[in-house]
Amino acid sequence: MFNVKMHCIITIYLYYYRMKQPHIRRLLSLPSRSFFLFGPRGVGKSTWLRHALHDALYLDLLDSALHIELSREPRQLEAMAGPLPEDAWIVLDEIQKVPILLDEVHRLMETKRWRFALCGSSARKLKQKGVNLLAGRAITRHLETFSWAELGDLFDLKCHLQWGLLPAVQSDPDNAPDILQAYAHTYIQEEVRQEGIVRNVPPFLRFLQIAGMLNGQVINKQNIAREASVPRSSVDIYFSVLEDTLLGQFLPAYRPNVKVREQAHPKFYWFDCGVARAAAGLLRDPPDGLWKGSSLETLIYHELRVHNHTQNKHRPIGFYRTASGTEIDFVIETRKRSGHSPARVVCIEVKLSDKWKRVWERPMLSLHDSKQLIVEKMYGIYTGQRNYDYDGVRVLPVQTFLEQLHSGKVF
Ligand SMILES: Nc1ncnc2c1ncn2[C@@H]1O[C@H](COP(=O)(O)OP(=O)(O)OP(=O)(O)O)[C@@H](O)[C@H]1O
Ligand SMILES: [Mg+2]
Repeated sequence: MFNVKMHCIITIYLYYYRMKQPHIRRLLSLPSRSFFLFGPRGVGKSTWLRHALHDALYLDLLDSALHIELSREPRQLEAMAGPLPEDAWIVLDEIQKVPILLDEVHRLMETKRWRFALCGSSARKLKQKGVNLLAGRAITRHLETFSWAELGDLFDLKCHLQWGLLPAVQSDPDNAPDILQAYAHTYIQEEVRQEGIVRNVPPFLRFLQIAGMLNGQVINKQNIAREASVPRSSVDIYFSVLEDTLLGQFLPAYRPNVKVREQAHPKFYWFDCGVARAAAGLLRDPPDGLWKGSSLETLIYHELRVHNHTQNKHRPIGFYRTASGTEIDFVIETRKRSGHSPARVVCIEVKLSDKWKRVWERPMLSLHDSKQLIVEKMYGIYTGQRNYDYDGVRVLPVQTFLEQLHSGKVF
């Protein structure tokens, strides 16, 4: 009953925003061959597909009649497509709802040479049932929340640090707490329930709140298990549910010269700081400085990922812990270590502060001096107004940094 009510609220919101909001052009470009499009709920996947493939046959598996028909009789897909020419596009939205269709997709790719756009918000079921089958036949693309490069003049840092960058939130920040609350209740809980892995929901909700609060922090699973009163093994499963439903990801500790499996604890970042805030149950509380600081890191990490995906860079990103225990927020490996040549990296330190303090440069400078690797560039990002150049560290306001990032000057 509760979920039905929440679903109605979301549907009304979405209808209202669609009428109100201008279309924002996305950076993602249409591949020339079949692809999977993955992304968290509500980031604009279906909207992008409808624009990019407006002539395609569009089959939305959220439609329950279609869902039932194709689950029972996958071969009906061929009949629905009819006499399409070679290279014609077919969109299967919410493909994770009917993973069995992937066998048919495979067959039609081979026999008819049709191209498929396969869209989903969870890779979990597909991983279990078929993505491997299509390996090599369909490439993978990702869509995330809006980026600075997409929003242009609509980008509002103060607002995004509070509420994140989901399209529905961006278009109506006044109602952000309600929209995010509904997002957390319907999308997170329903998606997770539907995953069928979390049968006992209350412990998962306790975990979710803690994971929300720990956005951007180093994760000690043992401590989380204790705090949420759940077994340590459940914490592993819960995090993998968050990762597979694309709600968040681990940022590993970067260790260029360590060959054995990474030992240091990673950090966990939610895909969006507004959704993290909803998960943490903090929508009605004014965020403190610490929270806003991790929101700024979440936003910068998001922009780094968007640039990494959309420009097909696929560079490893991590954080760095120096020997003395201080941290560098982001280290991007721009070239791997090979033979006697050390790895090359770009370092980024993010601070929510209107004034830059020189002491914040120290971890980057100490990595630079350590000669373990080649530090190509060092950036300090802050919320002040001026650019500075200190001993090779470029200190830039957030917007200036984002401009440089998206014009390809950072990596
Ligand atoms: N490029 C855009 N410009 C303006 N509004 C957008 C854009 N993309 C999405 N939106 C708005 O955001 C909301 C969510 O978009 P959409 O349904 O496409 O997301 P989705 O990723 O397909 O979500 P789900 O995973 O729940 O299917 C819609 O109301 C839509 O109008
Ligand atoms: Mg959709």
